[in-house]
Amino acid sequence: MHYYTGQIIGLIVAETQAIAQEAVGLVKVHYSELPHILSIEEAIENNSYFPVNRRIVKGDIEKGLEEADFVFEGETRIGGQEHFYLETQATLIIPKLEDKEFEIHSSTQNPTETQITVASVLGIDANRIVCRVKRLGGGFGGKETRSIPLSLALAVGAWHLKKPIRCMLDRDEDIIISGQRHPFLGRWKVGVTKDGKLLAMDVQIYNNGGWSADLSVAVLERSMTHVDNCYYVPNVRIIGHLCKTNIHSNTAFRGFGGPQGMMITENIMCEIADSMGIDVNDFREKNLYVEGQQTHFNQTLKDWHVPLIYRQVKNDSEFEKRREEIDKFNSEHKWRKRGLALIPTKFGISFTALHLNQAGALVHIYHDGSVLISHGGVEMGQGLHTKMLQIAAETLDVPLETVHLMETATNLVGNTSATAASVSSDINGYAVSNACKTLAERLKPYREKMPDKSFKEIVHAAYFDRVNLSANGFYKTPDIGYNWDKNEGQMFFYFTMGAACTEVEIDVLTGDHTILRTDLCMDIGRSINYAIDVGQIEGAFVQGVGWCTIEETLHFPNGHTIHSSKGVGEPPLFLGSSVFFAIRDAIKSARQSNNNGATVALSSPATPEIIRLACDDEIVKNCKVERKDGESAWALRV
Ligand code: MTE
Ligand code: HPA
Ligand code: MOS
Repeated sequence: MHYYTGQIIGLIVAETQAIAQEAVGLVKVHYSELPHILSIEEAIENNSYFPVNRRIVKGDIEKGLEEADFVFEGETRIGGQEHFYLETQATLIIPKLEDKEFEIHSSTQNPTETQITVASVLGIDANRIVCRVKRLGGGFGGKETRSIPLSLALAVGAWHLKKPIRCMLDRDEDIIISGQRHPFLGRWKVGVTKDGKLLAMDVQIYNNGGWSADLSVAVLERSMTHVDNCYYVPNVRIIGHLCKTNIHSNTAFRGFGGPQGMMITENIMCEIADSMGIDVNDFREKNLYVEGQQTHFNQTLKDWHVPLIYRQVKNDSEFEKRREEIDKFNSEHKWRKRGLALIPTKFGISFTALHLNQAGALVHIYHDGSVLISHGGVEMGQGLHTKMLQIAAETLDVPLETVHLMETATNLVGNTSATAASVSSDINGYAVSNACKTLAERLKPYREKMPDKSFKEIVHAAYFDRVNLSANGFYKTPDIGYNWDKNEGQMFFYFTMGAACTEVEIDVLTGDHTILRTDLCMDIGRSINYAIDVGQIEGAFVQGVGWCTIEETLHFPNGHTIHSSKGVGEPPLFLGSSVFFAIRDAIKSARQSNNNGATVALSSPATPEIIRLACDDEIVKNCKVERKDGESAWALRV
């Protein structure tokens, strides 16, 4: 059965890549167009869902909506995003003929799942398979599970041919085969009091899972837990639906549904404020959670700094002064408009699947005084290994240069979780630290006995005394464990918080935009490595900007599918949306100069085309551009 364009239908193995690619070109595939469902709207129309029932209910939604002075309804549409990691999906499988062993080198965020799944496909035990990962040329979630099908296909080939097989997808193959960020649709009904307090929030969330469920349930769950963003609402009902469609299987992408959930909220905030004629920042500030309040999934907020961060960014960015300057600029320019937005964020840190919140490490001290560490996480550019080396050096109290990390491998540390959910430095860091503490304890008597000696001499003495200089470490995140049926138990170990203020200028005639300035503040606790964390914040922000402004996945309705990607961990990504909301603010000004007071309902990404149309001036009206929701001028947004 075939489900989508780009589905793998077979494997051609040849002696060189060139021969294999030529052979692929000779394969004739006959397509017949079957009934198909591409977009969320089409899935809803055809009742095409994966059987998933997820809801979070707090308070009394009916009563809340009834008691509200105003009730607003709307729809928020959010597009997908191609990972565009530098290195495409790649795997090398080496069969070891003796004892049916297999060595896998894969560009995967998930060595254990690769090992276990290959074992089950080959019908052998996992103890005969080692998956080794030196580093990835970027993953961004796209290699959390979608790296595995390639390893499976190659493993079957290697099994039959008894030869090593390697494959690295070409970019076009990678884009068409592997999944992307989930497009989302939120349908909402929100009740507000006349003094601007949120009272009730009823949201139906739909995500486009593609042809297989993959991680879509977990992505949907995270979106549902982030749809409050930073605001307290006493009565909440969130219902999640997972749409089954005939596109690639959508998957993890930095933020993992969180940004999509928060995008729905922030659109709600803007549209309600505009409809009520109140200032959106006052509206936001009035509804920010305060310390000790509970989220809709009943987690009490401790160490809650968002109101402080929000005010700090507001001050540092000279928000009020620039607001006036921008209003002045806009009154003097018809075809260029500036916009300003200040967006807060919180991101829940923990895998929502409890069992994944565990990690292991293995540390050897060799008797020349050098240290080798291994842990469960993979390096994909996020600087994880550097942080792990720092933790080991600090715990063992040795110079950083004496500690080395070779690779991640399933025969060094077993049963590892995917490197994901922004928890890797927390959980692997504790595991490394626990292993090093054990070793430091064993070396303590020697250090005390030989205070003037070098580490090498101390280790050597311990070795001669037959002390075990290897240790493993383990860590599981304490306190967490949420029950979806009862809406109780702690979902996240903690939240990472931040805010960003962005000013943009749009060209009303072309729909183009320029970011003039962004002020951003993240509370990252006590940073292990400041340079890495700043890099993560900047990288996530820019990736978030791409997501909600210029990157757009379009499906052409003629049977061919073309994806056009122009283009600390996850938490800062959503702040890229400050650009989107600044654009929205500029569009509002453009409309106002035309005495067009209609509320702006902007779907993401705000591409030049969308921005141009949203300005909705006399030129657009004269063009009579007809556009159905969710549809660009010439192709379908899924
Ligand atoms: N940074 C780089 N350079 N490359 C990546 O692939 N992935 C992101 C983020 N930062 C990624 C990245 C994603 S999706 C996650 S979940 C986290 O890194 C995972 O790593 P961490 O847990 O060590 O933060
Ligand atoms: N985040 C990222 N990846 C995941 C999660 C999650 O919450 N759950 C399963 N895989
Ligand atoms: Mo990140 S999307 O959790 O790999």
